[in-house]
Amino acid sequence: MGRAGYVKDLRKIAADAATCTRCPLHERATQTVFGEGSAAARVMLVGEQPGDQEDKQGHPFVGPAGHLLDRALADSGISRADTYVTNAVKHFKWQERGKRRIHQRPNTGEIKACRPWLDAELGLVGPRLVVLLGAVAGESLFGSRFRVGEHKGQAREASAGEWHGLVVATIHPSAVLRGPDPESRDRAYEGLVADLSAARKAAAL
Ligand code: URA
Repeated sequence: MGRAGYVKDLRKIAADAATCTRCPLHERATQTVFGEGSAAARVMLVGEQPGDQEDKQGHPFVGPAGHLLDRALADSGISRADTYVTNAVKHFKWQERGKRRIHQRPNTGEIKACRPWLDAELGLVGPRLVVLLGAVAGESLFGSRFRVGEHKGQAREASAGEWHGLVVATIHPSAVLRGPDPESRDRAYEGLVADLSAARKAAAL
């Protein structure tokens, strides 16, 4: 299939995902937030789930975690134009706290229910490198026993559906933002950039 065909198929799959009812999360989310970016991207970044801003705007990583991720990609030498950005779970799971909608971690059933969408994205984009941002992305690809801390920054070969390539896990950008003080946030940010740089080098990008 030519590249235009892959783009068309990604659009078709995104349109199918817009009406997804594979798990209950669609009931309270504003909309499905599907992956976005180049269909020819060599790097796929997989986050957890859309946040409050992403849920409202309908695009992945457009809130504070997305801005931090953009900065970390630039600092690690990964071109944003060479990335496709998505999430393991495509609906926002939240809890009401006062006037705010607070993020809730998706459970194993919800992560599994969403996996076919990720497999479809992997198969169509065919990235050389997949970066798993945080524990939920790790669980989606490798199961609930996967621990990011044990594999952080290490490249390994993996397969998912029809896709085969390199995978590197690192922390989620929100973990940087949640740091209790500027020093711990700086340290976490440097760790994220170091893992992204190691991933880029392992994939010879
Ligand atoms: N956090 C994620 O994991 N994904 C987004 O799209 C935004 C925040």
